[in-house]
Amino acid sequence: MNSQVLEKARQYEQIGEGRIREEARPLFHLAARTGWMNDPNGFSFYKGNYHLFYQYHPYDSHWGPMHWGHGVTKDLIHWEYLPAAMAPDMPYDRDGCFSGSAVELDDGRQLLMYTGVVKEVQPDGSKREIQTQCIAVGDGLNYEKYGENPVLTRTDLPEGGSPFDFRDPRIWREGDGTFRCVAGNCTDDKDGRILEYRSSDGIHWSFERILAENRGRFGKMWECPDLFHLDGKQVLLVSPQDMLARDLEYDNGNGTLCLIGHLDPDTGCLVEESNQAIDYGIDFYAPQTVLAPDGRRIMVGWMQNWDTSKVRYREHLWFGQMTLPRELSLKNGRLFQQPVREIEGLRRDKTEYRQVLVEGEISLDGISGRTVDMELTLWPEDREEGYHRFAVRFARDQRFYSEVSFRPRESVVKIDRKYSGSPLAILQQRRCRVASRNGELKLRIILDRFSAEIFINDGEQVMTMTIDTDLTAEGISFLADGRTVMDVAKYSLG
Ligand code: FRU
Repeated sequence: MNSQVLEKARQYEQIGEGRIREEARPLFHLAARTGWMNDPNGFSFYKGNYHLFYQYHPYDSHWGPMHWGHGVTKDLIHWEYLPAAMAPDMPYDRDGCFSGSAVELDDGRQLLMYTGVVKEVQPDGSKREIQTQCIAVGDGLNYEKYGENPVLTRTDLPEGGSPFDFRDPRIWREGDGTFRCVAGNCTDDKDGRILEYRSSDGIHWSFERILAENRGRFGKMWECPDLFHLDGKQVLLVSPQDMLARDLEYDNGNGTLCLIGHLDPDTGCLVEESNQAIDYGIDFYAPQTVLAPDGRRIMVGWMQNWDTSKVRYREHLWFGQMTLPRELSLKNGRLFQQPVREIEGLRRDKTEYRQVLVEGEISLDGISGRTVDMELTLWPEDREEGYHRFAVRFARDQRFYSEVSFRPRESVVKIDRKYSGSPLAILQQRRCRVASRNGELKLRIILDRFSAEIFINDGEQVMTMTIDTDLTAEGISFLADGRTVMDVAKYSLG
């Protein structure tokens, strides 16, 4: 039996969805069915479908008491909405069902593990959120919360662990069938760390170890951990709050961090070998991965930014979308990301030009649109002389455009939405340093109406941003300061 709170949300979302025109949504990115979406949750492959749940407030396009929205897909491109999976309807989660994850049980049911939030008055009179980990079990459509929730509480924290920041359990099964999970936590002075727990049945848990610790390096509280093997290494993804910018690698605010290393055979703790940002754009947070049946490790992130998502210059009936699912790999100690290959099934109408000289600004017949997959390879016309700058402008009309540009002498790629139509004094640009020899660069640009995802040098860096430019702005142009030559292949997606 579903609660009234969940039934109300399920009824409401059908009405809300009906008010949104198909063209007012992204074509192939999962967006809020109606209202607000943040983090991906429970990304899993279950009974023949990929399931992707999400932090969801159906009643408003702003954050509110968290429900779990639910989408399914067979190919990671064509999404279908299912009814909301969970609502904040129990004493232990009445102020929100926060982020979590999913695994399949031996009996074929699916187990969701999530954070239950309750606001409680503290001894000093302040009201604070107490966060605990909870369980629900279901069949891919309806989920029943476990009668003895929560399953992990403040008494399961190691010394100094804050019960106010204890969230986002990421569950998996070991080869022997036992369960593990990692969750975000911080010390009393807000220094992030990742806790690991174990269980034989997915319900009764015990603290195992502090898997990784920030020690004041990357922001403060660490949210939304994900831990997996990839190409012979152990990878930990986390989303640190309150980061300070560091060179062009990390930017201010809520950022993302990929720690690559191995597990210490004695302690089981992560031994870090390298660190990097996950996405170098403006809108990317809280990524989660799934192991596909064919062995690919596939990641999606929330295609938004906590700071800029709070200030908008126009309102829509939906807010928040996921990135395109991305295939992960490691090369030379770095995380590479490629759009899932299934996107190629949407490609139509190839337009291709080879060895086009770009000098000043040009446009090319057949190259325009807001649902686009475009690959570019650049090099200087004169290897000695090089060029100063190359740029692609998209979502372009007489007045507006967004841009990705490259300065070969600095090896810096920049995305810029300053001229996309936003009148707000918010983050509109970001830069990242790329590996480039002799002014050569590869770009793959994926546009889906309200977003641009830019894969640089076969996915060594990705820069993601949303744009809210009117859909009538669909021009694409190429610019060079100096003389650049490019090969370009462009497909419409649809
Ligand atoms: C990250 C986050 C999570 C939390 C959720 C709440 O974006 O703050 O830590 O579970 O969002 O919606």
